[in-house]
Amino acid sequence: MGVQILLVWFVYSLTGIVLCQEAPYTTIIIQGSAIAAETSDEFVCATLDWWPPEKCNYDQCPWGQASVLNLDLNHPFLASAIKAFNPLRIRVGGSLQDQVVYGVETMGYPCKPFSKIAGGLFGFSKGCLSMARWDNLNLLFQKTGTVVTFGLNALHGRHHIRNGIWGGTWNSSNARDFIEYTISKGYPVDSWEFGNELSGQGIGASVGAEQYGKDVIVLRDILGQLYRSSSSRPLLLAPGGFFEQQWYAQLLQVTGPGVVDVMTHHIYNLGGGRDPNIKNKILDPQYLNRIADTFRDLELTIQRHGPWSSAWVGEAGGSFNSGSRLISNTFLNSIWYLDQLGMASKYNTKAYCRQTLIGGNYGLLDAETFIPNPDYYRQGT
Ligand SMILES: *[C@@H]1O[C@H](CO)[C@@H](O)[C@H](O)[C@H]1NC(C)=O
Repeated sequence: MGVQILLVWFVYSLTGIVLCQEAPYTTIIIQGSAIAAETSDEFVCATLDWWPPEKCNYDQCPWGQASVLNLDLNHPFLASAIKAFNPLRIRVGGSLQDQVVYGVETMGYPCKPFSKIAGGLFGFSKGCLSMARWDNLNLLFQKTGTVVTFGLNALHGRHHIRNGIWGGTWNSSNARDFIEYTISKGYPVDSWEFGNELSGQGIGASVGAEQYGKDVIVLRDILGQLYRSSSSRPLLLAPGGFFEQQWYAQLLQVTGPGVVDVMTHHIYNLGGGRDPNIKNKILDPQYLNRIADTFRDLELTIQRHGPWSSAWVGEAGGSFNSGSRLISNTFLNSIWYLDQLGMASKYNTKAYCRQTLIGGNYGLLDAETFIPNPDYYRQGT
């Protein structure tokens, strides 16, 4: 599959050159015998996010009923759209992930959704995933053959020190009970991811690599215990943030061999959703190529400090702040997207999760109608 994607990307790049030179016919010879890199079987991945309807960027509130907590799981288009990938990997996660509590029996207080609060991280309170909702999500996942990656709350039990820096040890008890519930129901989670955008400088909140590493070891032990009698062992992913070389290297050093299976990172290389230059950036190959440094540096960091681990893009939406209303859901965006799929494959990325399957302006499916946007079809190529 990696080879296929790479070839498509290559053809696509050439098409660009051809169009510029206004040559209508050309012959492309592809040497199919040389393998540049290999992806996993579930390279294609899309995300489901936690943002509630009250999430707005400027004057626009593009999430509606597209959150993990309120999405219409019975919409007929949804199941068909997922099934068509055979299989699609879905990563459940996003900014509010580190404020999610799991409504297991032991939680001890009412299970309530996110609400807007002044001073809350990203402007919201904690929000609760009820086990009834988790059951329904898994019904959809099983019906559609989805390969599930679930992002856990990595801030639980920590406290804000200053300037967005969070300290203290991770309180694993709620996550542990949630994973235990998941196993008891036989829900096949393929991979558990620890935290969202807490690495390096962090987005909203950050945690030092040393503390983070210690907590990842705790999670590894929990998974070891809870899955001890299971035939398959889920992967452990971390840190689901923006790549910063020192922080990522330190995480691998602190955790050591065999603890982190996958180093996940996020890509938003087109600027904010209202950036007037997004169009020009997408049409500029040199601009698009800049992010190759990040892919290369992560590949080198893994080779040097954690060869047992591999790289995934755990979330990539092109432009941040919910995407661009005028571009992220149009054909133009495909140029960015195909370029990314090719670039990621070339640098040995094993999976690439598009933000989002549905929700915001960058959904593969339209958040209101569930009708596929142009990018939906790009992944089939
Ligand atoms: C951890 O969190 C649980 C609730 O999820 C709480 O009951 C427990 O007291 C906490 N443990 C510590 C050490 O703070």
